[in-house]
Amino acid sequence: MKEIRVELDERSYGISIGSGILERIGEKFRKYEFSPKTALVSNPTVFGLYGEAVVNSLRSEGYDVSTILIPPDGEEYKDFLWAYHILSELLKVGLDRKSAILALGGGVIGDITGFAASTYMRGIAYMQLPTTLLAQVDSSVGGKTGVNHYLGKNMIGTFYQPRLVWIDVDTLKTLPKKEFLAGMAEVIKYGVIWDGEFFDYLRTERERILALDPECLAHIIGRSCEIKADVVSRDEREEGLRAILNYGHTIGHAIETVTGYRRYLHGEAVAIGMVYEAELSESLGFLEKGKAAEIKDLIDSYGLPVSADLLILRRCLRQWR
Ligand code: NAD
Ligand code: GLY
Repeated sequence: MKEIRVELDERSYGISIGSGILERIGEKFRKYEFSPKTALVSNPTVFGLYGEAVVNSLRSEGYDVSTILIPPDGEEYKDFLWAYHILSELLKVGLDRKSAILALGGGVIGDITGFAASTYMRGIAYMQLPTTLLAQVDSSVGGKTGVNHYLGKNMIGTFYQPRLVWIDVDTLKTLPKKEFLAGMAEVIKYGVIWDGEFFDYLRTERERILALDPECLAHIIGRSCEIKADVVSRDEREEGLRAILNYGHTIGHAIETVTGYRRYLHGEAVAIGMVYEAELSESLGFLEKGKAAEIKDLIDSYGLPVSADLLILRRCLRQWR
């Protein structure tokens, strides 16, 4: 099992990456001495695949586990009403200030669960059990929690670090290909913003990565988490450096918002954003000539979109003028 640390003084925590580790979460959870009542937040898709393993593991260690499912599955449900629903369920089942909750799912579940944890009784502990590539390499690490508002994505939220990120790479075996590729957009992001060698690795090992070669998966998830942990440890609250992680997201979020979160997956919108932001940077003289084309080619080679309709771009401009 690979272990990475996010160094944030008393809020430091570990990221554990391994194969078949979901069923060992109970054993790990026990070490934290939380209250006996706990809750697992998930959605029916992910819970149907992995919920039983997690619940059984926690119950076998003596925990009283409630499950809270967010029935509709999708970005448009990462909102205040579903966060309120989670908070209501936590109150009903009687979690106390020493309880912890667990998020089992992709970035939607992770973000909304973290947000609920940060506000329940002024903040209780939570753990991330990410099951999409995007959540494993990005959203589960770093403590950005939140929900969307109709006026903008992730506009309501907190910085609130999890106590543990527990990544079972085997969960990627059931992830739809389109979702896997969307996660690759965030992986490519790290190659562009931080590590040229990693960028080259993504180019040369593309076929093995797309075939879900376990060694390659462990490498891309591990390296992405190392980079994210490094950035977050230096600038937790995005006062400077951390903004680098938003590469592709300014345009990406605008595209998601004007298309009602339905046309593109988050990672796909970020892929388009990365291409446009690289081209803009090159045309302004910040990025070396030819680099934007290299970035676009790599994104394209993973089957991700590299442009959006003019109509969508016009709507983005109109909204933010
Ligand atoms: P998602 O959470 O919507 O999950 C994608 C789909 O995959 C869902 O339908 C889900 O049910 C399904 N799924 C999840 N795991 C599965 C598995 N193992 N097998 C089969 N199906 C599975 O999408 P996402 O891409 O994981 O997350 C996107 C969200 O993450 C966005 O809301 C975005 O804003 C957020 N995000 C947050 C941060 C952060 O720092 N907090 C960073 C990046 C993105
Ligand atoms: N995904 C951007 C960040 O965590 O800062």
